[in-house]
Amino acid sequence: MTATIIDGKAFAASVRDKVAARVAEIKEQNGITPGLAVVLVGEDPASQVYVRSKGKMTVEVGMNSYEHKLDADTSEEDLLAIVEKLNNDPAVHGILVQLPLPDHLNSDLIINAIDPAKDVDGFHISNVGLLGTGQKSMVPCTPLGSLMMLRDHHGSLSGMNAVVLGRSNIVGKPMAQLLLGDSCTVTIAHSRTKDLADVVRRADIVVAAVGRPQMVPGDWIKPGATVIDVGINRIDAPEKGEGKTRLVGDVDYDSCAEVAGAITPVPGGVGPMTIACLLANTLTACCRANGLEEPEGLTA
Ligand code: GUN
Repeated sequence: MTATIIDGKAFAASVRDKVAARVAEIKEQNGITPGLAVVLVGEDPASQVYVRSKGKMTVEVGMNSYEHKLDADTSEEDLLAIVEKLNNDPAVHGILVQLPLPDHLNSDLIINAIDPAKDVDGFHISNVGLLGTGQKSMVPCTPLGSLMMLRDHHGSLSGMNAVVLGRSNIVGKPMAQLLLGDSCTVTIAHSRTKDLADVVRRADIVVAAVGRPQMVPGDWIKPGATVIDVGINRIDAPEKGEGKTRLVGDVDYDSCAEVAGAITPVPGGVGPMTIACLLANTLTACCRANGLEEPEGLTA
């Protein structure tokens, strides 16, 4: 079997088109422009790339983008003051504090200082609790994008066996909650899981989010299963020339694609969906803040 490739790049473009259409409508009918504020502390190169890309796409869908770039030695007090200002700014509907933060800053404290209604990352403990109890919340972007692709591919996920590899607060745990919400039978596997290969072999859906390059080989995959690869790992690629690198996921793409029914590539799978869902969440937050109808198909 050769797997169907789930094209996250194209799917993300269609999500952004939907967001842009609703943004245009809200601007015209309600005179409101959704706004996303991104706070970056320090000069981590990968974070700088993400933030630039987020800002560009925010503007492309017609929203306002506010970037706050702060020195690496910014104090917790100063950062909290900026978050508070954004919480109280009616032009800002979504707030994202780029992680990781420098070591001297307490990420939990900062994230939990964000107004939960503006927490477009879905990391605030209130949103985590709302998601866990099946209530309306802001949903973390990467799991939301993964869920959208799964629903698009399968229609209903009800009754499917899903294995989530990885137990992070950002991906693994919320992904498991979302799959449970769609009536999957969910297993969260992690670095201490016994007989991991056998656990993964039972899955109709595998979501790999462990941050270990090409960790899942094709012979762990049940024939016909759907593989969502959340990993983005840079590895050496001597075949491309000296000093060259390439991006790979958490699954070994070539061997998994031979067995799976469908698979997301890296790059071009889950990655583009994350920013598209951030824009979708900002739009959702703006609609909720203003009592406007929420966009369809863009939330969990
Ligand atoms: N750093 C890497 N991914 C993310 C994300 O989704 N949200 C935030 N806030 N920081 C990140």
